[in-house]
Amino acid sequence: MSETTNLEQMVPEPGEPATRRAFLAAAGAAGVCYTLAMAYPIYRYLASPVEMAMSAAAVTEVTLKDAQKLPLGSVLMFKFGTAPAMLIHHQDGRWVAMTAVCTHLGCTVQYEAQQDRIHCGCHGGVYNPYTGANVSGPPPRPLKLYKVTVNDAAVNVSRA
Ligand code: FES
Repeated sequence: MSETTNLEQMVPEPGEPATRRAFLAAAGAAGVCYTLAMAYPIYRYLASPVEMAMSAAAVTEVTLKDAQKLPLGSVLMFKFGTAPAMLIHHQDGRWVAMTAVCTHLGCTVQYEAQQDRIHCGCHGGVYNPYTGANVSGPPPRPLKLYKVTVNDAAVNVSRA
């Protein structure tokens, strides 16, 4: 037994309840909503590094009030624009500020005072905590240094 389908069977008659048409319209709308719901997080994920870079580029200086009190051998994480950054007060009294965004895939790096290094937990990248130089692991470039000015009330961090 064979089944035949012709165009007349697919097109509803005028006045006939358009249940199939309504179903297809609803399914199409749901499909569009689903696609948008899936695409938006992907767009945000891909666009965020660009937005972060643009926002960080707009900021030229950050004032960290009372940061001059930061104890020796410690770090203060802060935002330079929207990008994470760090201010390190080394045991020898030197101040160093740099971006805290790993040059490999953009994870936030951490200063590890005990090992006197900057470490990226994502893939094990290691940076020099004085120069920002990439020492080992996958990072292809050094961390970008900022200029540091310390006064009685604050620490100013600016583009070098
Ligand atoms: S993102 Fe930092 S080492 Fe890969």
